[in-house]
Amino acid sequence: MSGMSLQGTWAVVTGASAGIGAATARALARLGCNLVLGARRVDRLEALRPELGDVEVRILSLDVTSPESCEAFAAHATEAEILVNNAGLARGVDPVAQGREEDWREMIETNLVGLLRLTRLLLPRMIERRRGTIVNVGSVAGLEAYPGGAVYCATKAGVRSITKALRHELLGTGIRVANVEPGAVETEFSLVRFSGDAERARKVYEGFTPLTAEDVAEAIAFVVSRPPHVNIEELVLYPTAQASTMAFHRQ
Ligand SMILES: NC(=O)c1ccc[n+]([C@@H]2O[C@H](COP(=O)([O-])OP(=O)(O)OC[C@H]3O[C@@H](n4cnc5c(N)ncnc54)[C@H](OP(=O)(O)O)[C@@H]3O)[C@@H](O)[C@H]2O)c1
Repeated sequence: MSGMSLQGTWAVVTGASAGIGAATARALARLGCNLVLGARRVDRLEALRPELGDVEVRILSLDVTSPESCEAFAAHATEAEILVNNAGLARGVDPVAQGREEDWREMIETNLVGLLRLTRLLLPRMIERRRGTIVNVGSVAGLEAYPGGAVYCATKAGVRSITKALRHELLGTGIRVANVEPGAVETEFSLVRFSGDAERARKVYEGFTPLTAEDVAEAIAFVVSRPPHVNIEELVLYPTAQASTMAFHRQ
């Protein structure tokens, strides 16, 4: 992929222990980025290390729902010029009428408050340096709500709004903000959503070819490696066999 050299640039990836985050760590390592990787499952981050070649890698425990954890993490990421706010999850597909407050809170705390918290911690130094790229991992769920997805969709619509607000707030600073919004990606996402029910998770991707975590990671790598005057603000990618959050062609 042609683009700006990122050799030696420090990049933070949250939620790098699985799926899109792990694939993004690999893709950014291929571009020569040094990495600060965070997630709750540190053993999974350690298992990723051998796949990252010879870039510098810092592996740290991170729970984006905890202010203390985020502060401790950010103290090791002061050089970060790239922040990929990827950590996120959905819990359940209950309609609002039967929704569980603990699920709502977990999604909002992780997908919105966690993203805001990490951004607030790392952004001031980017502003000082007048250089940086923040990539938020949104979702097509933020563009179009579906039944059973009210709160997850609301968090991703919120990510879209935060991205746009940041674009305005950072206009003139040289800092870029992007929202990468994938459709269905086969990762551990559905396993988490269905609390470990592997059969139910498998059915989500049955009969069509979903995106892979690598497909999304390549899009993120493309966004961050554009020349400094190019800000890809929104990048929507669907599997070819998906035309909306609810329209799938299954065979
Ligand atoms: N898969 C899809 O279809 C899809 C589509 C559109 C958007 N997305 C978005 O893509 C992002 C990545 O999801 P994925 O599909 O790659 O799912 P995944 O395989 O389940 O990975 C989610 C990652 O987020 C981390 N995470 C969750 N809660 C966290 C917390 N409190 N603190 C720190 N890290 C946390 C997990 O790490 P630990 O559990 O180790 O902490 C894991 O590394 C999410 O924001 C998701 O909403 C996914």
